[in-house]
Amino acid sequence: MSYEVAVIEGDGIGREVVPAALKVLGALDVGFEFVRGDAGDAVKDATGEALPAETYEIAAGADATLFGAAGETAADVILPLREAVGSFVNVRPAKAYPGADALRPETDVIFLRENTEGVYAGHEDRLSDDLSTLTRVITSSASRELAEFACEFVADGRGPAGDPDEGFTVAHKANVMRETDGRFREEVFAVAEERGVDVDEELMDAFATKLPLDPTQYGVIVCPNLAGDVLSDLAAGLVGGLGLLPSANVGHDNALFEPVHGTAPDIAGQGVANPTAAILSAAMLVEYLGHVEEGRRVREAVEGVLSDGPHTGDLGGDATTAEVTAAVVDRL
Ligand code: NAI
Ligand code: MG
Repeated sequence: MSYEVAVIEGDGIGREVVPAALKVLGALDVGFEFVRGDAGDAVKDATGEALPAETYEIAAGADATLFGAAGETAADVILPLREAVGSFVNVRPAKAYPGADALRPETDVIFLRENTEGVYAGHEDRLSDDLSTLTRVITSSASRELAEFACEFVADGRGPAGDPDEGFTVAHKANVMRETDGRFREEVFAVAEERGVDVDEELMDAFATKLPLDPTQYGVIVCPNLAGDVLSDLAAGLVGGLGLLPSANVGHDNALFEPVHGTAPDIAGQGVANPTAAILSAAMLVEYLGHVEEGRRVREAVEGVLSDGPHTGDLGGDATTAEVTAAVVDRL
């Protein structure tokens, strides 16, 4: 059986790290058919559109998508692409690896962030010279959908501890936003109770202090949209470079995988970008398609290279993207 995977490199180092990730996928015992789509600044310059309808359709119709990064047009590309795959949850692991200089080497957490509503629902108004407002949207249905995903995620042993009983933490601010985060919290707790999954909670501001002080207290963390965006970036800071962080935008029957980093214009075109984030995103794609063992092999190969080298410049080495990629493929 072969999977149709949409490949959208985008701009800048997206054009360097996505080909690296495809080399790694090519070394696995899984059949892929890659379908190419264009998106980003260069396409906009050429055609007037950052995300051509054809690319949207390719992503919507594929089994999964691997995306690199887009430059100035990032929001015009990634928001519709998340919609194209029907994503309701953003999965953001932040794991520190030996060999990569992490601020908190014991960090190993995974954020599950609501991906469609909250303050990012787009209901913002400039009402007068003095007054602007924003309507925060929280629905029971989206909160429950996220919580159900979280329960299945931990039950499948996909949390950092790999333990089906590890449960999760919900971070919110229901003491102040009683109606919106109150509803979010209630629904998440209700679903966890129905599913028999352990859940504890943190107020998100206190959590922003406690996580960096002792990341070992946490594993899977479930958040509303903005909180998940900010707190997962905080966790990213604990594990070091942007070149290491993968992510997934998951829907019910489709998903899009992308490194957290952007187009890195300062190093683009030099062949020195760290391919790790893109390769780990590809590992998440492989796992999403059900090949958990193959995903684990990629992860182990990456961990081996991070530990023993070669390293790209962001990790203090002088290896090229191609050399690091070849080292990962060798280990596979
Ligand atoms: P960035 O992530 O592109 O770069 C920040 C810093 O990290 C730079 O110094 C860069 O060299 C370094 N870096 C990032 N990835 C790296 C890698 N794989 N290997 C080695 N070093 C790496 O973020 P920045 O500079 O804020 O944004 C640059 C452009 O990217 C902007 O046009 C922005 O709109 C876009 N962007 C796109 C995103 C997306 O498509 N999802 C996400 C973030 C930014
Ligand atoms: Mg962000």
